Amino acid sequence: MTLERANVGRQLRLLPEAETQTPQGEYSLLFDDQHRTTSNSASSQPSPVEVFEDEVLGELLWSPAVALDPKHRPQTWDRPAGTVRRSWCKYPQEAHLVDVAAGRYRRLTVDEIALIQGFEPSWFEVPGVSTRSRIKAIGDAVPPPLARAILQSIDKLWSWNHRTAVEICAGSGGLASGACEVQGMEHLGLIEMWEPACQILRHSKPWPADWVACIDARAYDFASLRGQVGLLSGGPPCQPWSLAGHHKGVFDPRDLLAYIHEIVGVVEPEVFLFENVPGLASEQNRDYLQAVIERLRCPTTSNVGYSVMAAILNAADFGVPQVRRRVFLLGVRDAPASLAYRVFDRVYARATHRDPTHAHPHRQPWVTLRDVLGSRPDPGGWRRWLDSSLVAGNRP
Ligand SMILES: C[S@@+](CC[C@H](N)C(=O)[O-])C[C@H]1O[C@@H](n2cnc3c(N)ncnc32)[C@H](O)[C@@H]1O
Repeated sequence: MTLERANVGRQLRLLPEAETQTPQGEYSLLFDDQHRTTSNSASSQPSPVEVFEDEVLGELLWSPAVALDPKHRPQTWDRPAGTVRRSWCKYPQEAHLVDVAAGRYRRLTVDEIALIQGFEPSWFEVPGVSTRSRIKAIGDAVPPPLARAILQSIDKLWSWNHRTAVEICAGSGGLASGACEVQGMEHLGLIEMWEPACQILRHSKPWPADWVACIDARAYDFASLRGQVGLLSGGPPCQPWSLAGHHKGVFDPRDLLAYIHEIVGVVEPEVFLFENVPGLASEQNRDYLQAVIERLRCPTTSNVGYSVMAAILNAADFGVPQVRRRVFLLGVRDAPASLAYRVFDRVYARATHRDPTHAHPHRQPWVTLRDVLGSRPDPGGWRRWLDSSLVAGNRP
């Protein structure tokens, strides 16, 4: 479902997704120079747009046309959110909540975005990290309930020689938080090159702050960890879309996902788990993904082999109030191929929620935004609700 403005008046109605041509990609800034000029110059007239101030995010200007444009997919109360993205640090309407029945809307707060991603907001309450950086870090993260379901499923089927974990491209630690749910598992290191994420990782987290290395993973000395690591996990970025063809460019070391087998080959973890965007599993990128998997099965610098399996999981199925599909690549060292399959079977069996349009005897419908945000106090400030008269530009 998505939001559309009705032909006349201020009524909002919901359209089935299939009736819209909403792009899946990132959103650009919603405020152009024309809107700014109109607002700033019309000092004696009621402005058709509302002006908000925030010391970090800056001025927020809305025109009714932008506010109600269905293609921007704002969030609605009675569904889970769409996928949270790091671009929510800018101004997409996607980062807004529309109360269709009341004809009002407002921007989501950082705390609310954290809740939508399955975190306690306090995870991101880190002195010195800007609002923008917090939203970026939240948008990148694996929701902890999903991370927990995967890691606990691995734990049920694998006997660890070492209950130790190393996280690469750790972001703000969503996936790493799952390893902490495995009994006795301790992190040996969390490697991340973006300073604000490192600040978040070091602030009151379940691992020692000293274990966070703010460094490019390609410069890290993984050889020192060889043979000591139970779990190697992380969210290495990839650029399959920017790589035309499947020849020289695919294993460019700047593309960390394609380079990851070298790290696996050096560290030789018992298990690895890597997360990526669902587009990696699309028809267009199938050859790329297949090549990554083949390299992970037999890392060149190592004599060990891995049973590898990729699966797409949706965080909403695990009680997170957000439809967020992600690809997970799981490898288990010197294990039969069936083990990785069985792990994902077990993860799926742990799903607690379902798409409300699908029947399932033991699962609840997906958690909605009303379920998690409805009872919270009104945020006030410039994130306060705008009512329908403002939305329609008819402010008295
Ligand atoms: C998708 S996010 C990971 C999110 C993380 N799995 C979580 O759950 O919070 C990818 C992270 O990789 C980091 N990154 C990208 N290239 C890197 C590199 N070469 N070395 C270290 N970190 C890198 C980015 O800064 C970003 O924070």
